[in-house]
Order: sequence, then structure tokens, then C-alpha cells
Amino acid sequence: MLRQAAQLFPDEESEQIAFLNSLVNPEDRKYRAVIWTKPEAKDCADFSVRSGDEVPSWLPGQISLLSPGESPGKSKLFEDGAIYPIDTSSVYTASAMLAAVPPRRILDVCAAPGGKSLFADSVFNPEFIFSNEVVGKRLGILRYNLKKSGRPNFYTGNLDPAELAEVAPEVFDLAIVDAPCSGQSLLAKGTENPGCFHPNIIKGNAKRQLRILSRSAQCVVAGGYLFYSTCTFARRENEGAIEKFLKHHGEFTPVEVPHLGEFQSELCDFPCYRIYPHRRKGAGGFTCLLRKDGDHQELAEIPEKLQVYPVTSD
Ligand SMILES: C[S@@+](CC[C@H](N)C(=O)[O-])C[C@H]1O[C@@H](n2cnc3c(N)ncnc32)[C@H](O)[C@@H]1O
Repeated sequence: MLRQAAQLFPDEESEQIAFLNSLVNPEDRKYRAVIWTKPEAKDCADFSVRSGDEVPSWLPGQISLLSPGESPGKSKLFEDGAIYPIDTSSVYTASAMLAAVPPRRILDVCAAPGGKSLFADSVFNPEFIFSNEVVGKRLGILRYNLKKSGRPNFYTGNLDPAELAEVAPEVFDLAIVDAPCSGQSLLAKGTENPGCFHPNIIKGNAKRQLRILSRSAQCVVAGGYLFYSTCTFARRENEGAIEKFLKHHGEFTPVEVPHLGEFQSELCDFPCYRIYPHRRKGAGGFTCLLRKDGDHQELAEIPEKLQVYPVTSD
């Protein structure tokens, strides 16, 4: 942990200490936000929502940042599927996708329990969104959360990214890879995560992330976008994963996200963004949006295999 802090903030001892402190003393970092999956319920909010100068101008109306101490998970609105609570940092990382041309079809490759899918669906309202979760036992909670939101355009699946690449090449104009990772930011939420700084854990995750990115890239049409995020701070899983991906996928270019400018990573020279728990409220994370070269092409037909399980079918 100490070694990584030194790599992230070379020659800045006070920043290293502040970063480490945010991971070992997590009490006051549970800053929450909600996605309004049923925006008409906004007037019934039974929790305090931040307003005025506390709200960044780019924040879509479908998202609210909450006042400190609020627990929207206990709200009746959550029970009713009108809101979906997420960490404030996840709002910032997910917001990189706002720099994409609004997509018609979205693939969420690593979707459970559904936060990024609900974010993307709420802000873009696409024609079709395929929320995929390769770990079978996590599919139930994903379908439950999506169904509760009452939004009609969700389909789910349980495909390995390699299978997705095979059955759905160039079917989507946005693919979301909110990748499995070492999860170091969990510490900032007070959740134990032993081994999350271990080099072997980080290396294993980086390999898996590269594989998922490469497969997901095949599902994106020319002119479409690939979104990448993690909830960890290891360079190898973030900037490193993107650098390796770009070596083999020169057809993708990282895209600037102007509203995240102040979060530009200092560890590379392409646009990608780091949210740190000691600089910002929330647990932290990493995000990068990539565009596939070329003019926007007609999307390939949606294969039947992706249309078997609409969430409305339960
Ligand atoms: C960070 S979580 C996703 C969180 C989700 N996007 C959200 O916002 O609620 C990463 C997900 O990737 C899944 N996963 C694990 N191994 C995977 C693999 N080899 N390919 C694709 N997804 C994988 C995990 O089961 C987990 O649900």
C-alpha cells in the first residue's frame, strides 16, 4: 500500500499520507448519490438533495447528489424502484460516457448489480440495452434491480466477453466495461478487501481487464464508443490496461471529457481520469472513454441470442 502511494504521488509525502489516511479512516466518506430511474418520483424525495453551487453544472437531471449522512437505500423510493443509490465517485466515473454521441444501443459487459446500466439507460434512453453478467449467481440481483426500475428496454445475458464478441460484432454504439478489479476503493467505504494491493492480484486483474476490453471492442461499431472504469487505484489496472489495449487496438482513441478536466490522470499523457477519495467526496475510481475510428456506421442486426431474456419476461 505504501509503495503504491509513493508511485501514485512521487515526491509528495503529504499527499501520500492523505491518500493512505482516506483508505484506513473511511468514516466520513460515504457520500451517496441516486439515479432517478422513475424521474416522476422526484417530488416525493424523503431525503435531502444537494442543490445550488454544490451541484456540478454537467450533472444530468436524472442524477442527484445527496447531503452527507443520507441513506437512500432505506427509502421507500428505493423499495419502489424509483431510485438506485450509487457512490458519488461512481457518478463522476460514469459521467465520462456523457462525452459520447448519444448511443442507440448499449452493451454493459460487466453489469451486475446494475448501476452503470441504470445510469446509461437513464441518461441516454437507448432503444436497446443488453446488460451482461458472466457470473451466473449475480444475474438474479441484476435482473431484480433492472426490473424494479420499470424501464422497458433492458435485456440480460450471461455470456463470456469472448462469446459476446463472436455473436454480436459491431452491434452496439456504446460498450461499457466497468471491469472487475482489485477494488482498492472499497477500503475508503469501510469494506475490508484483503490482498487488494498485492502485486499478483493486481497483475491477474490487469490481464483479465485487457481480455475483456479486447473482446468488448469487437462489439462496437466504427464511430462508436468503449467506456472503461474501475474502482481501484493501481496504475497497471487503469492507465496500464488502456495502454496495453491501445497497442493492439490502434483503431481506438481516448476521448477528452471536458467536464472531468480537473481529474486528468497525472500518470499518462492521454485523456483518462482519476477520482481520489482524499481529494473528493466518495470512494474513488478511474475512467476512460475511447472512440472507435471511422464515420458512424449502420449497426449490425441484434442477434437473437441477445433477445432471449427481456427483464420484463419474469
Ligand atoms: C465492478 S463490477 C460491475 C459493477 C456494475 N457495473 C455496476 O455498476 O453495478 C464487475 C463485474 O464484472 C464481473 N466479472 C467478473 N469476471 C468477469 C469476466 N471475466 N468477464 C466479464 N465480467 C466479469 C463481476 O462478476 C462483476 O459483476
